[in-house]
Amino acid sequence: MRNFDYHNPTKVVFGKGTISRLKNLVPPRGKIMLVTGGESIRKNGVHDQVMDSLKKREVVEFSGIAPNPEYDVLMQAVDMVKKEEPSFLLAVGGGSIMDGTKFIAAASKYTAGDPWEICSKLAKVTDALPLGVVVTLPATGSETNNIGVVSRKAEEKKIVFHADKLFPRFAVMDPEVTYSLPDNQVRNGVVDAFIHVLEQYLTYPVQAPLQDRQAEAVLLTLLEVGPKTLAQKQDYDARAGFMWCANQALNGLLKCGVPTDFATHRIGHELTVHYGLAHGEAIAVVLCWLLRHQRENKQDKLLQYARRIWMIEDKDEELAVNRAIAETECFFNEMGMPTRLTDYGIDPAEAAETVRKGLERDQAKLGERGLIGPEDAADIVRASV
Ligand code: NZQ
Ligand code: ZN
Repeated sequence: MRNFDYHNPTKVVFGKGTISRLKNLVPPRGKIMLVTGGESIRKNGVHDQVMDSLKKREVVEFSGIAPNPEYDVLMQAVDMVKKEEPSFLLAVGGGSIMDGTKFIAAASKYTAGDPWEICSKLAKVTDALPLGVVVTLPATGSETNNIGVVSRKAEEKKIVFHADKLFPRFAVMDPEVTYSLPDNQVRNGVVDAFIHVLEQYLTYPVQAPLQDRQAEAVLLTLLEVGPKTLAQKQDYDARAGFMWCANQALNGLLKCGVPTDFATHRIGHELTVHYGLAHGEAIAVVLCWLLRHQRENKQDKLLQYARRIWMIEDKDEELAVNRAIAETECFFNEMGMPTRLTDYGIDPAEAAETVRKGLERDQAKLGERGLIGPEDAADIVRASV
C-alpha cells in the first residue's frame, strides 16, 4: 500500500427531514447566500424547506446555474458576493451547483490575478468563503470532497480543480428530495458513481485489501440499488442506498494508498465540451472502450473485478475479463444508459480527432501509469461504435 494523507472535514447530516436542521448548521451570524440552479428545487418543495429553516436569517440568492457550470455565470455570482458580502454560501442542488459554489467561494477571495487562473493554472486556493450544501442529486460526491469542475465554452475547456479550503462545512442529504429526479438523472448518477469507483479500483494491485473490498462494496450495492431506484420513484431505502453509495464513491476514501486512473473522466469532459453530452453520458461512452484498450495494463484487477463483482468463474482469464467488461456495458444499458457514441449520432472518428486535439493541447498523459496519451485516447474514442 502506498503512503497517503486522509482528511475529510465535512459533517454529513443524512436522512428524512434533515433540511429542517439547516438553521443549526449554518454559522449563527451573518448573511447567507443561496446558490441554486433551475426550477427543480422550486417544483419539488426543497427551496421552501430551505427558506423555512432559515426564516430568521438574512438570505440572498443567486440562481440559474445550469449543468456543467459556466465560468461567466459563476463570475456574475462573484459580483453578487462582492455587493452583498455574505459570510456563508449555501449550495442547493446537484454536482453543478456544488462545484459552482466552490468556484464562487474561491474566486471571491482570489486576489492574485484573474480568478480563471484557479482553473487554467490550477492556482493555489489559499482562502475561500465557507460553504455548506444541500444535495438534490446523488452522483458526483461533490458534497464531501474538495473538487470542483468548471467549464468555459469560449475556450472549449472543462477543468477540474481542487483545494482543501473547498470542502463543504456540512452536507445535508435527504433521500426524499431525489423522488423528483427524472429517470435520466438517476441513470446518470448511478453510472457516474459506478465509474468513480472503477477509476480508483481498476488499475494494478498494490496490496490494499481493505480499499479493494470497500470499492467492491460500493459497486455491489450500486448493482443492487441502481435498478430499484430506477424502477420505483419513492423507494426510500433504495434511494438512501444510492445516495450514500454516490457519496462514498468519491469522498476520498477509496483512493487512499492506491493508484488511480481518471482518464475516462478526462476524455469524457472533452466530449461534454464539444458535443454537449451530460457528464454521465460522456463517461459511459468511454469507459468500456478504455478498459478494452488498457486490458493488458489492468489485467490483474480486471480479473479480480470479474471474479468478485460478476462472479465469473471461467478458467480462461481473457474470456473472464471480456465477460466482465460486457456485463458492465449491459448494466449501464439496463439502466437506460447508452455506451456508444453512435447511439447519439456522433461520428466516433470525428470525435476521436477532437479529443486528440484537446488532449494534445494539454500534453495529457493519462491513466495510472501515465501511458494514455492523445493518440491512445483517440483510439479509445474511435472504438465507441
Ligand atoms: O437545474 P435544475 O432545475 O436544478 O435541474 C437539475 C439539472 O438540470 C436536475 N436536478 C437536480 N436535482 C434534482 C433535479 N431535478 C429534479 N429533482 C431533483 N432533486 O438535474 C440536472 C443535472 O444537475 P447537475 O447538478 O448538472 O448534475 P450532476 O449532479 O450529475 O453534476 C454534474 C456536474 O458535476 C461534475 C460534472 O463534470 C458536471 O459538471 N462533477 C463533479 C465532481 C466533483 N465535484 O467531485 C466529480 C464528477 O466526476 C463530475 O465531474
Ligand atoms: Zn464523474
